[in-house]
Amino acid sequence: MKLIDFPRVLLAHLPTPLEHMPRLSKHLGGPDIYVKRDDCTGLATGGNKTRKLEFSMGEALQQGADTIITVGAVQSNHVRQTAAAACKLGMKCEVLLEHRVADPSDTYANSGNVFLDRIFGANLREYAGGSDFDAAIAEVEEEIRVAGGTPYIIPGGASNPVGALGYVNCGIELLQQLRDQNLSIDHVVTATGSAGTHAGLAVGLRGSGSDIPIWELASMHRKTYRKSASTNSPAKQQTWWVRRAASPERTSSPIATISGPVTVSRLSR
Ligand SMILES: Cc1ncc(COP(=O)(O)O)c(C=O)c1O
Repeated sequence: MKLIDFPRVLLAHLPTPLEHMPRLSKHLGGPDIYVKRDDCTGLATGGNKTRKLEFSMGEALQQGADTIITVGAVQSNHVRQTAAAACKLGMKCEVLLEHRVADPSDTYANSGNVFLDRIFGANLREYAGGSDFDAAIAEVEEEIRVAGGTPYIIPGGASNPVGALGYVNCGIELLQQLRDQNLSIDHVVTATGSAGTHAGLAVGLRGSGSDIPIWELASMHRKTYRKSASTNSPAKQQTWWVRRAASPERTSSPIATISGPVTVSRLSR
């Protein structure tokens, strides 16, 4: 099956620029650095979720859904972008927000992404950290069906095989830019949380015949990730599917620690 065969709704500003950072390279005394500007993907301020949501929302529309259900932390970027996508497409959005921060300030609880979620008309339901989100989502799903709606569930980070297609597309886009600009790059480094970005890039690059090694910068410590994946994922099998798909040959332990909880792992060729 080709990427073009999957249902998709255009939400992102693509292709994002591949920007040269000569002064950063010089400052670091390091390699020549280019940044794939996925902070510029658009929708509601950009970020990696826009690409994923093109495919998640595409499938939701294809299935005739009128209500999106998703989950994330109180200040989740994924939730903000999903609420924006639902708003843009005229769909309802039910959000299960997990309180992961002890004693949050009023600012944390009400500003930033939460504020935007509300502007986009999402219905926010709040849950204690560590709640059983598989059960909670099943309840919300049932509630919507009983009321005559048609729900579609997007897991945390839109990290399932459908959402990861957005980064298969990014991998293909990146290779095209390298050809157009006559550039050769030795390494790709990506941020990782729920791993859909990394998984999609791995498929996009390898499926196009590229063996550029992919490194990931984990936005949470692996132990924390495991803990949260086992407690807060609405579709944890899918999340783990993505993580395994991304990491068939991953080194078993982080090979470098940058600072605090951030670790770097390499996906071997
Ligand atoms: C801006 C941004 N970049 C990257 C990531 C990691 O993406 P993924 O959840 O697909 O691993 C996240 C989420 O954790 C994010 O919010």
